[in-house]
Amino acid sequence: MKRIAVSLMMLVFTHSGFCQSESPVAIIPQPVSLEKTGAGFHLNEAYIRLFKEDKDLSAIAEQFNNRIKKAMGVALEINIVEEKRAAKIPAVTFSIIKGGNTKLGKEGYTLKSSTAGVVIEANEPAGIYYGMQTLLQLLPKQIEAKSLASATTWEVPGVLITDYPRFGWRGLMFDVSRHFFTKGEVMDFIDQMSKYKYNLLHLHLTDDQGWRIEIKSLPKLTEVGAWRVDKTGTFGTFSEPAADEPKTYGGFFTQADMKEIITYAQARYVNILPEIDVPGHSMAALAAYPDLSTTPGQPYTVNAGNRFMIWPPSGHFYGTIDNALNPANEKVYELLDKVFTEVAALFPFEYIHMGGDETARNFWEKSDDIKALMKRENLKDLNEVQSYFVKRVEKIISSKGKKMIGWDEILEGGLAPNAAVMSWRGMKGGTEAAKAGHEVVMSPSTFAYLDYMQGDAAIEPPVYATLRLRTTYQFEPVPEGVDPKFIKGGQANIWTEQIYNTRHLQYMVWPRGFAIAESLWSPKEQRNWDDFVKRTEVHFQRLNMAGVKYAPSLYDPIVTAKKDSNGKLAIDLSTEIEGLDIYYSFDNSSPDNFYPRYTTTLVPPKDAVKLRVITYRGGQVIGRELTILIKDLQTRAGIK
Ligand code: ACM
Repeated sequence: MKRIAVSLMMLVFTHSGFCQSESPVAIIPQPVSLEKTGAGFHLNEAYIRLFKEDKDLSAIAEQFNNRIKKAMGVALEINIVEEKRAAKIPAVTFSIIKGGNTKLGKEGYTLKSSTAGVVIEANEPAGIYYGMQTLLQLLPKQIEAKSLASATTWEVPGVLITDYPRFGWRGLMFDVSRHFFTKGEVMDFIDQMSKYKYNLLHLHLTDDQGWRIEIKSLPKLTEVGAWRVDKTGTFGTFSEPAADEPKTYGGFFTQADMKEIITYAQARYVNILPEIDVPGHSMAALAAYPDLSTTPGQPYTVNAGNRFMIWPPSGHFYGTIDNALNPANEKVYELLDKVFTEVAALFPFEYIHMGGDETARNFWEKSDDIKALMKRENLKDLNEVQSYFVKRVEKIISSKGKKMIGWDEILEGGLAPNAAVMSWRGMKGGTEAAKAGHEVVMSPSTFAYLDYMQGDAAIEPPVYATLRLRTTYQFEPVPEGVDPKFIKGGQANIWTEQIYNTRHLQYMVWPRGFAIAESLWSPKEQRNWDDFVKRTEVHFQRLNMAGVKYAPSLYDPIVTAKKDSNGKLAIDLSTEIEGLDIYYSFDNSSPDNFYPRYTTTLVPPKDAVKLRVITYRGGQVIGRELTILIKDLQTRAGIK
């Protein structure tokens, strides 16, 4: 009786017009198998049941309860019971499978919900944790509310789920160097990523713009290296700071802070991979220890976003200042030994990342030290010099009991024998390393660089490349012809040159982070863009409840400028998702759905100044309006 009354009330009060029990089942990442089985149950009437021998799961039950309590106002009772005791009322049961279930592995789970409650079973606590995350996604979106959500029936639909990940390495890289993010902000990020079953946070802790981890034996690294002149705007275009300009921007994690972050992450089944990026990207370290470059006389300061690396259209990039450690200087290895001793002791994860990317060669080329090193070690070129450095670093890292991973440049000149490779310049480096029997993590910029713009440059903060959600969803970590056993998994990277705060960080990560999560967790054969878009839209509602920002770029028009056969500008309009209508104007006014609807390639009127475009769905505006100058479209089309 009670249930019918509640459902009728929901029919009246929910504006969507259907009761909560009909709210869509939309799990991200998509489970391996999911069957809807009919009636579910009301969570408000349940208690949490743990069997006596699974008492250790109470930490996961507490996390579940904390989420429930925020939104429902009351925590569920946790009962630790003898095995096989019949439940009198619906219970949420977390239970470790005795004897194991090989199909589920370390992180898989089964979830069964019915009128009797929910049973989540797994071989290991990590699986229970992921089952718990799925259960939260089965609950109405109000479960994401940060404060009491009233007028909600906490209905869990009846489902039968078997689920386990495709890859064991499901990572997000967070660059806390270019912009600093606090301990609390990193913890919030861990909460968000673990909801989508990511299990690895790669912290890019050092770069030209800041050294962000306390090294107790080398305090100058953070006293000097963590602080720079404060600049806001378009990173990479800033004016040169004056020598006496105050260095007020920055911060770093003390080792005590980092221990707290690590403990927080462990409770969410997230490993932390620390990256110390050497020998390039080392200006912050050189600001503290200038003698460690090949140009020791320079007045080094931590870079504040003024350009110093030049990328000519062809040829090797070069620096206007030397930001690399000197591989011929023994003091460099002494410093790195101290750094990696402390990093290895602090971070429990089995890998340490040594960076290794984008080392400019122009100062190395001129260095007498390096010439002498090449002669002494019989190194025939600068690739072999870099490889000499990488191999020395690998020895240091393995002497601390850790495995080394680095960006794919560490392949150049010969890879260290036990090193793993993180492939970022496409899949090529990863393919080569896997074929040589090395472990590989795929994070190609072409699919997984979440710092790239996700929509039109007219509306997004400027970054040098674009990566739309739809492309991200096509990320396939195992290249043709490669033995999958060498591909540990993949990750998306979030470089923060142009990300100044957590709101914009969230905007850059979601929803592309959904797509990467799905490509790393769900079976390849199940990938389905239209279905993913539907589930993404359901999760937008959940992010709204959680107060987490996301990019609505998938609703925006896509404008493609091209040169027609007469050399004149022609414009194609399209959309990333199905079912949108596009309207446009060339008369400078803001178009709505009474304006011309786009059907075929446009040629702008002779003296038009601007194109303005908007998208609608079902008669309602849905995308953001784009305004682009015709002269900019001509530039995009390569018309002078
Ligand atoms: C990189 O993006 N430089 C690894």
